[in-house]
Amino acid sequence: MNNQQYNELQQQLGKGAVSDLQTISDLFGGVSVFSTSFSEEDQVIAHLIFSGNLNIKVFTLDTGRLFPETYSVWSRTLEQYQKSIHTFYPDAVALQQFITDKGPNSFYESVENRKSCCHIRKVEPLQRALLGNKIWITGIRAEHSSNRHDMPQLEWDDSNHIFKFHPLLHWTTEEVKQFIRTHQIPYNALHDKGFVSIGCAPCTRAIKPGEDFRAGRWWWEDSSKKECGLHVHAETPSAVIPQ
Ligand code: ADX
Ligand code: SF4
Repeated sequence: MNNQQYNELQQQLGKGAVSDLQTISDLFGGVSVFSTSFSEEDQVIAHLIFSGNLNIKVFTLDTGRLFPETYSVWSRTLEQYQKSIHTFYPDAVALQQFITDKGPNSFYESVENRKSCCHIRKVEPLQRALLGNKIWITGIRAEHSSNRHDMPQLEWDDSNHIFKFHPLLHWTTEEVKQFIRTHQIPYNALHDKGFVSIGCAPCTRAIKPGEDFRAGRWWWEDSSKKECGLHVHAETPSAVIPQ
């Protein structure tokens, strides 16, 4: 992968979610993956992939600490589309050791424990899920947090050696909700109860009107630390592209 490949791909993308996902399916069939957390935006992308019969594999990371509502929308999605959602679990031995050493809720005690928990339950399984693939699609939206505002739609993820693409980066919340209503897509019931960005149950709460979208994630921590390690963004994407 070099700058020229990045630029060529960038020119073919950015033409709207439907067109971009079709392009990715055509160019990277068999080596493209979409990660879903069953959020509203992820459900829009899953709908486009499943109903368009695109050649993009869909996977989720089951941390074991998700909300009952998340498992419910996951089941309803399987019923509605009759397609596979590949599931990745934390390494059992690493998790057993961590819980034995620290207890089940150690993430509230320190940022270090929280990051270890996220690493075992999300980051390491993600690495396995991405292995052998060339492009990773996410449901990241710019509105979700200030450090996502200036992100490019296409990134090179140097830690996982994969292109990363965010088809709904510039969609507004209203556009997402409207699309879900129009196409009768199953969605997480927590979105109707003040939850915006939804992760694990012990680490997510509803937000009040006007609060930052990610204010409900790891709310006890300093806002500068609120990333779990799934998404590591380069300052300038081209700076990390190997020549
Ligand atoms: S996180 O970094 O805070 O955990 P966020 O909840 O904003 O991520 O979700 C952004 C994108 O990350 C989602 O659209 C999805 O592509 C991916 N993602 C987050 N959590 C998961 C998960 N448990 N399984 C699969 N993908 C996930
Ligand atoms: Fe653990 Fe919370 Fe991270 Fe989930 S979000 S992996 S429960 S620290």
